[in-house]
Amino acid sequence: MEQATAMLGANIVSVGVIGCGTVGHAITQITAQAGIGVTVVEISEGALAAGRARISRSLARLASAEKLGDQTPEEIEARIHGTLDYGDLADCRLVVEAVYEDLDTKLRLWRALDGVLAAEAVCATNTSSLAVIDQAVATGRPERFVGLHFFNPPQVMLLVEVIRTVSTSPAALELALAYVARLGKEPVPAADRAGFIVNRLLVPYAMDAVRILEAGHGSMPGIDTAMRAGAGYPMGPFALLDFIGLDIVLAICETMFAEYREQRFSAPPTIRRLVAAGFLGRKSGRGFYDYSGGEPAPADLALGGSPPAAAQAAG
Ligand code: 3HC
Repeated sequence: MEQATAMLGANIVSVGVIGCGTVGHAITQITAQAGIGVTVVEISEGALAAGRARISRSLARLASAEKLGDQTPEEIEARIHGTLDYGDLADCRLVVEAVYEDLDTKLRLWRALDGVLAAEAVCATNTSSLAVIDQAVATGRPERFVGLHFFNPPQVMLLVEVIRTVSTSPAALELALAYVARLGKEPVPAADRAGFIVNRLLVPYAMDAVRILEAGHGSMPGIDTAMRAGAGYPMGPFALLDFIGLDIVLAICETMFAEYREQRFSAPPTIRRLVAAGFLGRKSGRGFYDYSGGEPAPADLALGGSPPAAAQAAG
């Protein structure tokens, strides 16, 4: 069985990735690192150039840590074809979307791609929490549709959740598992339920951290330090939320709350206010922390309506 999976993986010569942003650039990169040709599609030359620059930076980091084996960054980058044209995906055996976490955007994408992709191509969504079946039925190939959920940063994190829907065929699932194995990642099968496994557990934990901050159990850096030093987590919950992106977290909460109708899946007011202000975390320079200086500094969250620290000091 393992040998069959390896053979199937070895036969994958061409993968398409839609979106070269936070996760898309990384999926493109690790696919090329695995020796597979990748066609990555973006909506503008600027977005494509930004994604390719991220790939170059990440490969340089891995090369300097001697983590690319006998490959050079140039060899890996030569396997990547960036384009604005969906038509370039016509020969791909597997196409993975990593566009913005919004169902309508994803549905529009799959409808546009349906006539372009090869009949035998398998499609995968990298959704964080949306029901995979809703996207599968928007294509003419619901039996060849799976979820492949990567974790940030995909260059480092080993897990890929592999989601089979009620209509996924065994052959499509095998191909998805073979691809993940070829990447050297750890596939874990997960049911098509909002949040799958990791976000179903991780997001309510992080939302509870926000709630205990709002209730005054501790300071933000204090709670982050407590979870790192006391529970061995690589990042505290607020650093993690900023790392994921608060808009993404809010979207995950809304999907999970709509599915389970339990209060613990709802986003606390602080998250909604930060997103409304455009303070989305690291990517916007401010979230729970302010990243404008050298070291991240706790941002003013205006909790309890208190005046900012500087105004208090001025009396
Ligand atoms: N490309 C290449 N290498 C990278 C990298 C990247 N983008 N990011 C980090 N690395 C490498 C570094 O080069 C470093 O390598 P070295 O050990 O050879 O020096 C190693 O990873 C560790 O990185 P750093 O030294 O910069 O920093 P840390 O030790 O703090 O690790 C971290 C950074 C890996 C992000 C770690 O803090 C961590 O594991 N955090 C938790 C991440 C997490 O929970 N992710 C899941 C989020 S949930 C999700 O993604 C689901 C979605 O649906 C929302």
